[in-house]
Amino acid sequence: MSNTPFTTVPSCLPRHVAIIMDGNGRWAERRGKIRVEGHRAGAKSVRAVVEAAAELKLDRLTLFAFSDENWQRPKMEVEAIMLLLTEYIAKEKKELKKNNIKLTVIGDLSRLAANRHKAIQETIEFLSGGTGLNLTLAISYSGRAELQRAMTRFAKACEDGRMTSKELSADTVHEFLDDPTMNDPDLLIRTSGELRLSNFMLWQMAYTELYFTDVLWPDFRSQDFLKALSQFAERDRRYGKLREMPVLEIGRLASPIGTIDA
Ligand code: FPP
Repeated sequence: MSNTPFTTVPSCLPRHVAIIMDGNGRWAERRGKIRVEGHRAGAKSVRAVVEAAAELKLDRLTLFAFSDENWQRPKMEVEAIMLLLTEYIAKEKKELKKNNIKLTVIGDLSRLAANRHKAIQETIEFLSGGTGLNLTLAISYSGRAELQRAMTRFAKACEDGRMTSKELSADTVHEFLDDPTMNDPDLLIRTSGELRLSNFMLWQMAYTELYFTDVLWPDFRSQDFLKALSQFAERDRRYGKLREMPVLEIGRLASPIGTIDA
């Protein structure tokens, strides 16, 4: 990994950034190329952003690499994305290890070809000692299917006597998700100008800050990433509560219209 020349780094960085990498097809079409070329170029952006996230010491970077819905694309495109994914993992694993990066996958890997599933599991194992960036790939993933899996796991735990229905809370739902160790994303980036979540981490995104850019994923590089992080640093996250108001004196609170008696 080369050193990314960040001139200014925002003071307040998100711990977990999630990305919907969109616009590969349009990037290719605009250049008169086939869609697969867009995905290939997109893999280069993956390398650049993983490198930047590791250098900025983010805790986690989650990339939406292949959705449940993407299985409905032409077979050739599905194959090409799967190949790029497994190639990326195979080619980068030594570099990822050198940089102390851990790999996690969320999604239904049972739908992948057995050899690909195995290669991914082996790389997860190979990188399991990483204590730096947690690179999470969402593969064969959709938010609703993940919630369905969580409910099935919870129902099974109840049948086995490990849980009771009374124990169901937001925390227990979290425990039964694909990766219970995952903290919610602080920032979601979606490229290519589309303004939707597309079934991505629906449970985890309840209070995630959203950032949309017109840049197509294959053109997205570390400076675009930094721009998103800088905008995040300016957001005022209140989680439905009120901004902290300074207490002026005992019994009197600051308010936008002067002071009020408490
Ligand atoms: C969305 O663009 C992108 C995908 C469905 C695939 C993303 C895959 C990669 C970037 C390749 C490798 C991934 C890794 C992690 C190495 P789109 O095809 O929907 O674009 P469009 O909306 O312009 O058609």
